[in-house]
Amino acid sequence: MEKNFKNLFTPIKIGNMTVPNRVVQVPTDISTGDSDGAVNDRVIAYHEELAKGGTGLIIVGASTPDRETGRPTVTCLSVDADFFIPGLHRLAHAMQKHGAKCAVQIQHPGRQAAYPRKNQMSCSDMISDLPGSAGHEVIYAGDTAQGKIAREMSVDEVYDLIEKFAEAAWRVQQAGFDCVELHGAHGYLIAQFMSPYTNKRNDRFGATLTGRMRFPLEIIDRIKRKCGPNFPILVRYSGEEWMPGSRFIDESKEIAKMFEAAGVAALDISAGIFDAPGPTMDPMYYEEGWNTYTSEAVKSVVSIPVITSHTLRSPEYCDKIIGEGKTDMAGLSRQLIADPYWANKAKAGKPEEIRKCISCLIGCWKESLMIKREMRCAINPAVGDMRFLDIQSAKTQLKAAIIGGGIAGMEAARIAALRGHKVTILEKDNELGGILRTCCMVPAKQKMKWYMDWIRRQIAGLGIEVRLNVDAAKEDLSKFDVVLAGTGGKTFVPDIPGADKAVKFEDVLICARKNCEFWPKEGKPEAAKTGQKVIVWGNHYAASDTAEALAIRGREVILVTEDAEFCPDIEPIHREVMKMRFAGGNAQGLEGTPIKIPVVIHTKSTILEIKADSVVLMDANFRKEVIKADTVILAKQVPDDTLFNSLRDKGLKIQNIGDSRAVMNVRNAMTNGAEAGLLLDEGIFMNANGILSGGLPLDVEKQMAR
Ligand SMILES: Cc1cc2nc3c(=O)[nH]c(=O)nc-3n(C[C@H](O)[C@H](O)[C@H](O)COP(=O)(O)O)c2cc1C
Repeated sequence: MEKNFKNLFTPIKIGNMTVPNRVVQVPTDISTGDSDGAVNDRVIAYHEELAKGGTGLIIVGASTPDRETGRPTVTCLSVDADFFIPGLHRLAHAMQKHGAKCAVQIQHPGRQAAYPRKNQMSCSDMISDLPGSAGHEVIYAGDTAQGKIAREMSVDEVYDLIEKFAEAAWRVQQAGFDCVELHGAHGYLIAQFMSPYTNKRNDRFGATLTGRMRFPLEIIDRIKRKCGPNFPILVRYSGEEWMPGSRFIDESKEIAKMFEAAGVAALDISAGIFDAPGPTMDPMYYEEGWNTYTSEAVKSVVSIPVITSHTLRSPEYCDKIIGEGKTDMAGLSRQLIADPYWANKAKAGKPEEIRKCISCLIGCWKESLMIKREMRCAINPAVGDMRFLDIQSAKTQLKAAIIGGGIAGMEAARIAALRGHKVTILEKDNELGGILRTCCMVPAKQKMKWYMDWIRRQIAGLGIEVRLNVDAAKEDLSKFDVVLAGTGGKTFVPDIPGADKAVKFEDVLICARKNCEFWPKEGKPEAAKTGQKVIVWGNHYAASDTAEALAIRGREVILVTEDAEFCPDIEPIHREVMKMRFAGGNAQGLEGTPIKIPVVIHTKSTILEIKADSVVLMDANFRKEVIKADTVILAKQVPDDTLFNSLRDKGLKIQNIGDSRAVMNVRNAMTNGAEAGLLLDEGIFMNANGILSGGLPLDVEKQMAR
């Protein structure tokens, strides 16, 4: 395949607007606006990066036409008043000056609003309990989850909102945007009207396909009247909604024809509604381009441009589907969060430099929009933290040693080297990667290798010295100006009879392939042997990944956890899909091999004793039970800070980062490492709260050093 991706970089017309290439940022609500929904510098900085990165069309994420009744996230942008126009204009200009075309997506969330909480209006009366959505209410401690009550809008309210959508589009046009998009996907208000699953009305806005389509078509008609016939209107909707009784591809093709006839300039075909969160936000399980068939189907019945999206990551794939006529444009959301320079890197023939999104949904969803915070990214520290947007050279160049080449260590090394420090990584194993290497064994986690591959590549390209198979305790570390310990976590071994008979999860998740691209060297350790019936004891990614890796290989897996529910802390959409798979099924739209023997989960239980062929389990009612098992796997992690403590006690200037400080997920390990890399030359120290700090006033720094 040619590396200049001709199909991707051929201009295309949407209405009378020419988009310079086929790369679209499909709408992404970064939830970073001001509290009233105004554009601010952080919103501009995020979108300007996308434009600088060569994205052809940038569709700014869900923006509300009516703050009073519906915000998809608490700090989404607002387009419901004229005083937002100047800010929106700054935003449009920041993208257009780099040659990008831009749109704003207008969205009313209906039942899925993040605010207000009560009396939420929707297309029909309904109770929504959608734990994967950003509109899901945080349940107050002590409250029981009951779902959010939404009520059917009156016809007057529907007409009022149609007008508000049109006025919002007019403001987008006044602000200088090139086009506007309507959000009819993912179960938000327009989708609620369009879908037989949510539209239970018997009036002119429901009952039949014509009735269900009246709401979006009237909005389009009103926009055309307000903005004139030449202002392109795009519509996003899901090709398949994936719930019984919802819309599937045949009706979506009919709808496409209706939109084209109404004068819509392009169709942006997405997937899912939040009742089926898997296909809506596709966690790691979903393969690249799994949703492309829907744009292909829609393209077969219309002649306006069609955009596809969902887990598009590589320019090779995107270029190919455009060439094959399956889509006209490639829509990327999370990929551009992870790397806004995707298009430029592809155009320059350097696709291997792209930091591919790993679909973890931790930074951009679980730890931000879902809990009413600004968007972050697990692998790109610059998202939401302007200090990483334009990394400055260090004033003083230091010699830094980083013990441990796991996530935190590698990211610290990368940022420190970018700042000009001379960095050496001392790694005890024969490869960099740390816990990331266990991902080879878990089908759903294959994408994590992309990040491992990318960061290893950066480390090699930045001239960082990597010393493998090194015992740092035996090294003379005093020759370094600063030392970071990123020695990772270790498996917790409980103090119970028979604990020595158990196997550690990290010894099980050793990739079985010899000399694969991530383990190219000799000397790879053998994985621990496991029997047919296996107990996995733990309840976080370590446990769920181990359970999945073994279940997919035909083992009978029993998961034991003291927690009240299965994996409460892992990303909820990933968990939802995993639960379906552990039950022996598959999530919607997923074609991965199902697990043959369902995983049995014992919650609120613990293990009292491990015997040769069984364990003694105790449940929440203190009932003891003997369960047969060939192998018991310990899958709880604790920090491995032994080396850090001993070096610090010897008086070495050393800071602890990543899992050896506290066991953390990929986002927190990456952020912690990035922070350390940034602060290295600022007199990095651990403050009284156990947090890495830097930039002390000189007089305080001198006092601290004495
Ligand atoms: C943080 C975040 C915000 C999103 N905001 C929107 C939005 O405002 N409007 C929308 O239509 N889709 C939104 N999406 C969905 C994406 O546009 C996209 O359809 C989905 O993430 C799958 O595609 P991807 O693999 O390219 O991310 C959002 C997704 C994420 C992760």
